[in-house]
Amino acid sequence: MIPSHTTQRDARGVPVSRCDPRSLEDFETALVRFQSYFGDPMETLDAALERDPGFVLGHVFRASALLMMSERQFLPEARRSIEQAEALGHANDRERGLITAVRHWLDGRWDRAGQAWDEVLAEEPRDALALQCGHLTDFYLGDAVNLRDRIGRVIAHWDRATPGYSYVRGMHAFGYEECHQFDRAEDAAREALELEPRDAWSVHAATHVMEMQNRYQEGRAFLKDRVDDWAPDNGLAFHNWWHLALFHIEEEQFGEALGLYDGQVSTGMGEMSLQMVDASALLWRLHLMGVDLGDRWSTLADHWQRKAPLENGFYAFNDLHALIAMIGAGRLDAAREILAAVERAARGDEPVTGMMARVVGMPCASGFLAFAEGRFDDAVTSLAPVRSIANRFGGSHAQRDILNQTLIEAALRGGQSGLATNLINERAEHKPHSPLTRRFRKHNQGAGLQAA
Ligand SMILES: [Fe+2]
Repeated sequence: MIPSHTTQRDARGVPVSRCDPRSLEDFETALVRFQSYFGDPMETLDAALERDPGFVLGHVFRASALLMMSERQFLPEARRSIEQAEALGHANDRERGLITAVRHWLDGRWDRAGQAWDEVLAEEPRDALALQCGHLTDFYLGDAVNLRDRIGRVIAHWDRATPGYSYVRGMHAFGYEECHQFDRAEDAAREALELEPRDAWSVHAATHVMEMQNRYQEGRAFLKDRVDDWAPDNGLAFHNWWHLALFHIEEEQFGEALGLYDGQVSTGMGEMSLQMVDASALLWRLHLMGVDLGDRWSTLADHWQRKAPLENGFYAFNDLHALIAMIGAGRLDAAREILAAVERAARGDEPVTGMMARVVGMPCASGFLAFAEGRFDDAVTSLAPVRSIANRFGGSHAQRDILNQTLIEAALRGGQSGLATNLINERAEHKPHSPLTRRFRKHNQGAGLQAA
């Protein structure tokens, strides 16, 4: 054991309170796993804590990583970990700041958690754990500006020699992309990948740029050419495969997208909401295009329903995707139960997730349910006003495009030709070379409606 008067520091020079030196090594291993999505950080942390139960940072890291799963089921375990960290009584200032952030999250104040991580970073700008948790929280909050600027506030304290610099550049890349600064985003992602080709988040950021810039063929080649870097045994692989499927859908290559669903996006899904969200979103996009999906919906709906008693009403972004699976499987009663859970959350006193449910979750869930029931005008009424503020329940531009596609289909099927034309024109502004956009337009014309 290190005497308490000495200060240990991690590989970036950030102070760590008293612990076994081997625990510090385990922290670095777990951190790289957390940053790279290769390997399970929890496994490393659990082993470290079994050997060294006084490892404050291990307990804090464990709690933080559990929260980043965006599921209610992990809150009790995260709470236990943070209580253990607090009970030890020898946390340093930085670790107390990290504990405060976790406490805010557990209290439902995701926004204050984000602030608390920023306060840690003000003193320790190379705190990679605070930075990544803040970044992921910004994603769950749909806070594009902070996805970019939280990184921008500290990156001057990092350089190419700092361990983990590529991952910081990758986060910056994603932030730039969500702020529509595509050139800077791609520069950052490519620099990160030059330093660390096996950086799944930077691959992801560059993929988002290509999605937003309609570079579908290039995007497919980009992902396929480096597939060995980001896919095998990577925890984010399902999401990058999902992006590859989106490229195919934009080019009306629905069979390829469905093949990716079967072979990659839905494989080994277990019951992780993050992956089930992508599965729902992919099937829904194919469903809108009239693709026969066989029994895939019912399999996916079963996964969601096993989680429903605990998770419904926790996080509206997940709720919407669970509801979509129920609609796809024809389980409209279960879909209505999810809508009711979102409405309860909207009336509840959770300050952040309640707001998400009220402002975005309810209109989206109502709109999709109306769509499923053939009430297309009601679907339009619910979905049209929420799109421009839908970032408030999190996700990326690419993920939230499901709202645009559904609204266009609702307008088309409801015979609202003027609105359909305008929405298709809007999509064409952003995606002028997309065969999918042309397909919407053709559908509009084919229905005898007014063409743009
Ligand atoms: Fe993404």
